[in-house]
Amino acid sequence: METKIIQLPKFEDPRGNLSFIEENNHIPFKIECTYWIYDVPGGQVRGGHAFKVQREFFIALSGSFDVVVDNGCHKQVYSLNRSYYGLYIPCGLWRQMENFSTNSLALVLSSTKFEESDYIRDYEAFLKYREEYEKQRI
Ligand code: TYD
Repeated sequence: METKIIQLPKFEDPRGNLSFIEENNHIPFKIECTYWIYDVPGGQVRGGHAFKVQREFFIALSGSFDVVVDNGCHKQVYSLNRSYYGLYIPCGLWRQMENFSTNSLALVLSSTKFEESDYIRDYEAFLKYREEYEKQRI
């Protein structure tokens, strides 16, 4: 599956709304790790890197932030600002989170546990990685 906004179930209720996510159902992977980003000072940027294997799903549980997804040729900005949809990002893409609103809460579900060797943190190395990836697809 390509990078994609996924709508989640939403049970509207006068007592307050409820949404949920089931692994391998609403999102196309088994959840191995859940983390969240919070208390982000104004203007800060997080997550400027790519993963070789890890796939992720981002939700703005509260407030808003943007996720910039870059395949080496083209960048797309996804604005997340509701807790009943999220952004699925497959592996092999550079992604950066920015434009966090005050008190925003970003939830990230990921398909693998933290593994530093899965990160590509250098943008030039990422471009080389994409070049190899594109060659293999031909
Ligand atoms: P990182 O993914 O590098 O955050 P960002 O790219 O947004 O700056 O995570 C920061 C650090 O947090 C990482 O170097 C180690 C730690 N970490 C874990 O120990 N386990 C995890 O599941 C995650 C996501 C991070």
